[in-house]
Amino acid sequence: MIEFWSYKRELRKHKKEIHLNIKKTLNSGQIFFGKEINKLERNFIKKYKSKYAIAVGSGTDALLISLKSLGIKQGDEVITAANTAIPTISAIRSVGAIPKLVDIGDDYLIDTSQIKKVINKKTKAIIPVHLYGQSCNMDEINKISKEYKLKIIEDCAQSQGSKYKNKFCGTIGDTGCFSFYPTKILGAYGDGGLILTNNPTLYKKIRRIRFYGIETTDKKNFFYKQYYACEEGINSRIDEIQSSILNFKLSKVDQWISRRRQIANIYLKNLSSTNLILPRQNKYSFHVYHLFTVYHPKRNKLMSYLKKKLIETRVIYPYPIHKMTAYKKIFFSNKYLKNSESKSKGIFCLPLYPEMTDAEVLRVCNTIKNIMIKFRL
Ligand SMILES: Cc1ncc(COP(=O)(O)O)c(C=O)c1O
Repeated sequence: MIEFWSYKRELRKHKKEIHLNIKKTLNSGQIFFGKEINKLERNFIKKYKSKYAIAVGSGTDALLISLKSLGIKQGDEVITAANTAIPTISAIRSVGAIPKLVDIGDDYLIDTSQIKKVINKKTKAIIPVHLYGQSCNMDEINKISKEYKLKIIEDCAQSQGSKYKNKFCGTIGDTGCFSFYPTKILGAYGDGGLILTNNPTLYKKIRRIRFYGIETTDKKNFFYKQYYACEEGINSRIDEIQSSILNFKLSKVDQWISRRRQIANIYLKNLSSTNLILPRQNKYSFHVYHLFTVYHPKRNKLMSYLKKKLIETRVIYPYPIHKMTAYKKIFFSNKYLKNSESKSKGIFCLPLYPEMTDAEVLRVCNTIKNIMIKFRL
């Protein structure tokens, strides 16, 4: 069986180090806000060349806290892509704002030529979602944000380590939001997230919001008091055990990204003769292949034949946001979202994770080719 994803191979390979980190952290006497979270934040600052990093409870929280810290509130509008993960939208809704959806291009990323159509006086921010491991067109998004004075919150949940030109995703907007959900490029063995920013005022505000609104750093500040909320915050902590696992895994992440790119190249080379539509890598971006997403009009058939041959695939995501019961009422018009709708009906993802062997990747390719010939797909 070639599983779509499993952490077990990774764990088997690094069991000793991971168990050692868990044991060491448990014995440290600190469950939260100890050495490991500080180290994680310092590691991110150094690795991704950002001024500040704030680790939080999840990728969803990273988006929600970013929105709150930028003052996005009830009635404001926030632009994002129609094919994003549900949490991008739930974060916007959690601050009472209204998501404005924009269609996607052939690269599955927000079509920047469509953004201006949804801007009005209520528009306050854009959340470009660097989906599947590839950066959105940030020059275009920056230009629009300057012209209309919009904040930019980068959703980097699927794109840790990817770049737009020579800059890391997450360091271009006002904030960059990362997820450590286990399947991600850098996954915890539980939940976690992180925010990058270069703005010192935002940094302080984000730190307060993640911890009930309490000032924890600036001892000279008038507000510095224990058990005293100087603004409304939430609880969004990542624990020391998860942070220690992430610190260990971060030392491997570049190596894992190289392996992801190698696997993607095997797929690209060996599937180029089929009628699958393969992922497009934009010239300006460094793709980290969180997911290898292909398109075929008879996707469901293809996926079920692959399952019979013991190859797991998955549709990420099968429904655009405006088609879901929870959000239908918010979106009156979807006439600009044709691409998101049509692509969601034919996309599916092939297994891709660093521990896959070349032989397994080739088996996926050959099985697809054989199925296509046999069933004339
Ligand atoms: C694009 C995108 N944004 C946000 C999130 C939310 O991250 P988390 O699951 O850590 O809350 C995810 C994770 O599934 C995601 O893929």
